[in-house]
Amino acid sequence: MKQYLKYIILSIIFIGVLSPPITCIASEREQEQVKIFQYQNLPDSKDEVTSMLHQKGFIAIQNVIGFKEARDKFFEQQKLFVALPDEVKERCVSQNFCGWAYGKECFEGIQDKSKGSYYANISDPVDKNPWPESLPEFRIAYINLATLIFNTAKEVLSLVGIGKNSELELEQLSATGRMLYYGIPERDDGNNRFWCGEHLDHGLFTGLCPAIYRQGDQIVDEPAEAGLYIKGRKISVPSDVLMFQVGETAELLSNGEITATEHYVKKPLNGAYERFAFALFCAPPNSLYLNPSNKSVIEKYQARLSGGGMTFEQWNAKAFERYYITK
Ligand SMILES: [Fe+2]
Repeated sequence: MKQYLKYIILSIIFIGVLSPPITCIASEREQEQVKIFQYQNLPDSKDEVTSMLHQKGFIAIQNVIGFKEARDKFFEQQKLFVALPDEVKERCVSQNFCGWAYGKECFEGIQDKSKGSYYANISDPVDKNPWPESLPEFRIAYINLATLIFNTAKEVLSLVGIGKNSELELEQLSATGRMLYYGIPERDDGNNRFWCGEHLDHGLFTGLCPAIYRQGDQIVDEPAEAGLYIKGRKISVPSDVLMFQVGETAELLSNGEITATEHYVKKPLNGAYERFAFALFCAPPNSLYLNPSNKSVIEKYQARLSGGGMTFEQWNAKAFERYYITK
């Protein structure tokens, strides 16, 4: 029983770290005019891609081979997964930081009962993820999309050279997928304007698929005020565009040369919408040592760095701790 409780607590912490609680909201400005790179031109756009990541905190890439098909297929399967009976989805809950998690997050101390995730480690050669047996295509679509994003992430990282001055080897990266489902709350949740409050991802690099919105059985346009905001600006891209943003670990590894990207996801002001999304978190090996020497980086992260360097594994643990204390 004690062991079981430990897993529940750790699971809640883990989920929270991937989507930590709101801190402060940057002033919202006009919608960002997003520069979209063509996948086939990436090798010739190294300087522009690099400066985009440094200045805006994200890049948007169109025509990644197979991406649109993989995303469409995945979102079809995601809808089927969400519609599975609760007892079937319950069998996909894991104690090993993967699988289905529903209603585990809080906003300002109030449990968000309409948000679900399916996490999967896609780098582990032994697949320990608790996939739904009755929906085998879900696993295939998930791994296909996640692998495609992971491979593209490594291409971008190789191009821009994040971590080039560290001991980071791109072949050693791992990746965790997160299928996100934002359901319709059973009752009005008051002041919560966000599906996800402002935060920084704590890993290295995050891949993002443009979300799908549904009202009933219809796929509908993203409501004007809702969706992803990066650095306070609304970001809308066509459905065949894959995006990447920078995590805290990249900031630490680059000694502040590149900074982690503040982002949040806003709810529509009116109307009952479901939101379906997918993100992929790329992380370095647990043993990689993070030891920034830049004063402003140390100051920014001093609460977790505790005045010294640490391995990525310890950095993860600190992130969990932070969330747990906040709770
Ligand atoms: Fe995030």
